[in-house]
Amino acid sequence: MLIRSFRLGDYSAITRIWQETNLDRAETESLDALATQLAWDSELVMVAEQDGEVVGVVVGTIDGTRAFFYRLAVQPELQGHGIGRKLVEAIENRFRQRGVNRVLIMVNQANHEVLPFYHSLGYEVQKYVTLSKKLSS
Ligand SMILES: CC(C)(COP(=O)(O)OP(=O)(O)OC[C@H]1O[C@@H](n2cnc3c(N)ncnc32)[C@H](O)[C@@H]1OP(=O)(O)O)[C@@H](O)C(=O)NCCC(=O)NCCS
Repeated sequence: MLIRSFRLGDYSAITRIWQETNLDRAETESLDALATQLAWDSELVMVAEQDGEVVGVVVGTIDGTRAFFYRLAVQPELQGHGIGRKLVEAIENRFRQRGVNRVLIMVNQANHEVLPFYHSLGYEVQKYVTLSKKLSS
């Protein structure tokens, strides 16, 4: 298992993993976000590679001393084997190297089954409500 930064040829594997894990609901938005992030800092898009195949992905962003990661996904048939944990640890290390001292993540309320995974990695639920507004260009 190799965790590494994004490379150009990874794009279709990542899209497939997001489709297979139902993280593609806002597909255009997430691909736009991925393209923007890659232009900013491709080292914060990390993938897990097994036997030459991309099997997991996480996308990070940094805002001062805080960082966010999102779109964490592992190929369904390989879930539960520690790949998600390795991806989170790798992006956390990268954040640490950049002076980040807090990591924030947003989990869809409908996806509460993923909470034990994050708890096992030391993440705690905060008492904030997320508000957002789409800015038209
Ligand atoms: C969430 C996800 C990335 C986790 O990846 P994974 O490779 O299956 O997780 P791991 O095998 O690394 O699990 C890491 C730890 O979480 C624990 N864990 C994972 N799923 C769990 C669950 N449903 N309940 C309890 N603990 C769980 C494991 O026991 C493991 O702990 P351990 O290392 O102490 O044994 C993966 O399930 C996934 O792609 N889900 C669909 C997409 C998704 O919902 N992404 C999150 C968006 S917010």
